[in-house]
Amino acid sequence: MKLNEKQLKDIDEIGYTILSGWFSEEEVKNIRKEMITVFKEKTESNIVEKSSGEVRTAMGLHLRNKLFDDLTRHPKFFEPARQTRGDNLYIQQTKINVKAAFTGEVWQWHYDFATHSGEDGVPKPLALNLHVFLDDVTEFNGPLFFIPKSHKYGRVLSKLDTETTSYPLWTVDQQTVKNLVKENGIVSAHGKAGTSVIFVDNLVHGSAQNMSPMDRAIFSVILNPCDNAQTKFARPDYKHGKDFKPIKASPINCLI
Ligand code: SIN
Ligand code: MN
Repeated sequence: MKLNEKQLKDIDEIGYTILSGWFSEEEVKNIRKEMITVFKEKTESNIVEKSSGEVRTAMGLHLRNKLFDDLTRHPKFFEPARQTRGDNLYIQQTKINVKAAFTGEVWQWHYDFATHSGEDGVPKPLALNLHVFLDDVTEFNGPLFFIPKSHKYGRVLSKLDTETTSYPLWTVDQQTVKNLVKENGIVSAHGKAGTSVIFVDNLVHGSAQNMSPMDRAIFSVILNPCDNAQTKFARPDYKHGKDFKPIKASPINCLI
């Protein structure tokens, strides 16, 4: 499952690509079954919403579940990551971000590298974030918003917000977002369940509250080149994996 020239160019030039139908209905069905299992686990790596108590993000999934370990290394993620970042990649993070119907809360404007460098001392913005939608993601149920080309501006100013939501995040201020959007606009990343999205570490993104009656769950794996590994180790394994050996692809049919 390799990316074509256009998809590779999009990652480079606008910072992301959207791959509809990347995973099949059957694969998504099987992932969703295990999602229900991991959400029921009582663990600090299931982080819940401040107000509703519903799971907001379930982290460290490859460390606690066989199917998610296979999914993390799936050729549909691994091949595109190798094409863009080379052969030697380690698993930095896995999670499912949920936005429950009616109650799913905001993810403020941010770019992931602010956290990866600020918290973990990752040297360069080379990590890739690879998603698969586990629900249909529409304009209504809290899709990610991207500011195309915002990764070209380098490290825009950001500061740690520990208050707005139950997940601490290095966020980008409103004036910076205003300037970036004025020049580049905003897109919403939506598509049917099974759609994949790949985006780069310093692309500015966020998502709004889900006030629709439809849940929105997205699996995410962050792969980082082994020679760009973290240099600070304060965060737990479920937030930044400590196995820096290059991963190998799982079999193409491992989810079926
Ligand atoms: C993220 O930026 O990691 C989360 C965004 C979302 O799930 O809406
Ligand atoms: Mn993010």
